Amino acid sequence: MTHSQPKARFLMCAPEHFAVTYAINPWMDPKRWARDDRKFAAASRKEWDRLHRAMQDLGAEIDLVPAVPGLPDLVFTANAAVVLDGKALLARFRHAERQAEEPHYEAAFSALKDRGLLTAVSKLPEGIVLEGAGDCVWDPTRNHFWMGYGQRSDAGARPIVEREFGVDVVALELADARFYHMDTAMRPLPRGEVIYYPNAFTAAGRSEIRRRVPAEKRIEIKFDDARLLAANAVSIDDTVMLSGCSDVLRAAIERHGYRIIATPLNAFLRSGGSAFCLTLRLDIRSARMRDAVKNAAA
Ligand code: ARG
Repeated sequence: MTHSQPKARFLMCAPEHFAVTYAINPWMDPKRWARDDRKFAAASRKEWDRLHRAMQDLGAEIDLVPAVPGLPDLVFTANAAVVLDGKALLARFRHAERQAEEPHYEAAFSALKDRGLLTAVSKLPEGIVLEGAGDCVWDPTRNHFWMGYGQRSDAGARPIVEREFGVDVVALELADARFYHMDTAMRPLPRGEVIYYPNAFTAAGRSEIRRRVPAEKRIEIKFDDARLLAANAVSIDDTVMLSGCSDVLRAAIERHGYRIIATPLNAFLRSGGSAFCLTLRLDIRSARMRDAVKNAAA
């Protein structure tokens, strides 16, 4: 008898101490937050609970990083690490405000390792910044990471991720301060479609995407959806969860056979984050690992 595996496993952090108390991206306005802080904090809890519940309803198992007073952005667990094949490469942050999160994520990952949910936890070399899955998004169809650089993360992280995980990393330069992490502007879906906002990337980045993703799989979004962070979506099987999107984008995603759950995350938008940022998938497997598991079972 084998233990039943959850359909998906994620790391999240409840927004007990979420707020906008500093500004490290153009979405964040601490003065505006302070004027209505109780209202926004209450909204963030409701919105997060709904996302959390929707994911559990879809069969996801969710582990939590304990919230820490004074670390409002700890909720954005996508930034905690890059995870693949049971290995985690811990993030190093650009800004001092978020560097203070690093020891808390490190503790959370070593606890996951102690529980046997990860096999290895490693650190970036000194001087290299990479803000986890926020800038290193796995594409299960193409079996490589898409890595954003130039705003938060360093281009120099690319060979390190390639070596660490033994997979290719396609690096794309980010061109718009509002889309400072690549996950704010790109989401590969399970069957090979890629939702993305072309203007978030340089011309070279855009042609790299177009070279690798055939036209019928590209779901290019306009600014009206980009500004809702509609590309910052979480998917479990055929379901795509996002804060909100236009009818045009909804129809485009549904045409590819996915079901959409729109679960508003407006309080988090005030920090420049949405659904994908609030989650970190822990059970992603590369093609090599999937084959190894299959062969072992055969
Ligand atoms: N306020 C946070 C920051 O600027 C938001 C992070 C959102 N996370 C993400 N993966 N895009 O760092």
